[in-house]
Amino acid sequence: MKLNLNYDNIKKSYLFVEIANRLKAYTADNPGADIIKLGIGDVTRPLAPCVVEAGMKAVAEMGDAKTFRGYSPDSKGYDFLRNAISAYYKSNGVIVDADEIHVSDGAKSDCGNITDLFDSDNTVLIPDPVYPVYMDSNIMNGRNIILSECHEENGFKPAPDKKVKCDIIYLCSPNNPTGAAFTRAELKEWIDYANSMNAIILFDAAYEAFVTSEDVPRSIFEVEGARRCAVEFCSFSKTAGFTGTRCGYTVVPKELLDGKFAAMWERRQSTKFNGTSYIQQRMAEAAYSKEGIKQCRENINVYKENAKIISDALTSLGIYHTGGKDSPYIWLKCGGDSWEFFDKLLTKANVVGTPGSGFGKCGEGFFRLTAFNTPSKTAEAVSRIKKVL
Ligand code: MLT
Repeated sequence: MKLNLNYDNIKKSYLFVEIANRLKAYTADNPGADIIKLGIGDVTRPLAPCVVEAGMKAVAEMGDAKTFRGYSPDSKGYDFLRNAISAYYKSNGVIVDADEIHVSDGAKSDCGNITDLFDSDNTVLIPDPVYPVYMDSNIMNGRNIILSECHEENGFKPAPDKKVKCDIIYLCSPNNPTGAAFTRAELKEWIDYANSMNAIILFDAAYEAFVTSEDVPRSIFEVEGARRCAVEFCSFSKTAGFTGTRCGYTVVPKELLDGKFAAMWERRQSTKFNGTSYIQQRMAEAAYSKEGIKQCRENINVYKENAKIISDALTSLGIYHTGGKDSPYIWLKCGGDSWEFFDKLLTKANVVGTPGSGFGKCGEGFFRLTAFNTPSKTAEAVSRIKKVL
């Protein structure tokens, strides 16, 4: 028996596990501490009423012999949900056929699992800082990784370097962790770059619902050329508050490798995944109904207002930051060691955030706050942070 020793090359624990452990140790020593969590990107607002109603109806169906359902007909998801997702794209001006949509338990799993489809002898281009899943899952596979560095100078938005050759490109916009979002023109550069060398773009659009800027696309498929080179990962987690419910989907356009990639993904999923539960799929369908979109938007608007509170406070203090506009994340310059800043905020303000260095070496000196707490706790956290900065 030989272990996959590539696991020795990733950090001992996942970033948010490390944060949870530090928090646990602190609260054990300080049991009365009134902690405000702006760390992990986890939602706090309840599910939209029409989503709850659809879930209860689906549970009742499962408890009745006449309407009970076992395994779903295929791992791609029920037609009712794939049609609702296709209609959601259409309402945003993008044509995606229902049969190009593969429903799953979330974007995180798909972003990691998609690596099964690639030979280990591929070069992967990953921005730094980055959502740790892309990096860790490729290190686990022993792939060659090139970093595309992001700094204050490029506004934490990487641009393609035509001299660099690669096969697989990860992009996330609006970005986790920096909150920066590509404009149409910036995304077009990446698409042209990928198409010029037959590379694939793995595009994480988990935060698309936060986009309000006119020139920022919510889907890579809004941009010409993307259907030949891109796969898009989407999630109901942040859009509809499904972090504890789990449902996402991946779009693989027919044009990508003349359908071979979609067939391989379907084959992979049908072998290793038995589909998302009927109940979750009914809830997701409700989230993309007319009423569901309206109700979910009310929650997103609360988070967007929180983001503005944080961003405005940092602006008034003259602190450089990105995000907070088309994104629930605010990425601020803390200077110095990110973990030291984490400890300072935790111990002096009882506020938890995420150290930028946890997202890559270019994240050192930066810190991420999320807008997912309640408005009152966000305002309280901001006033505490102001006092210790
Ligand atoms: C984060 O805080 O970065 C999120 O938890 C990402 C995720 O949804 O996995």
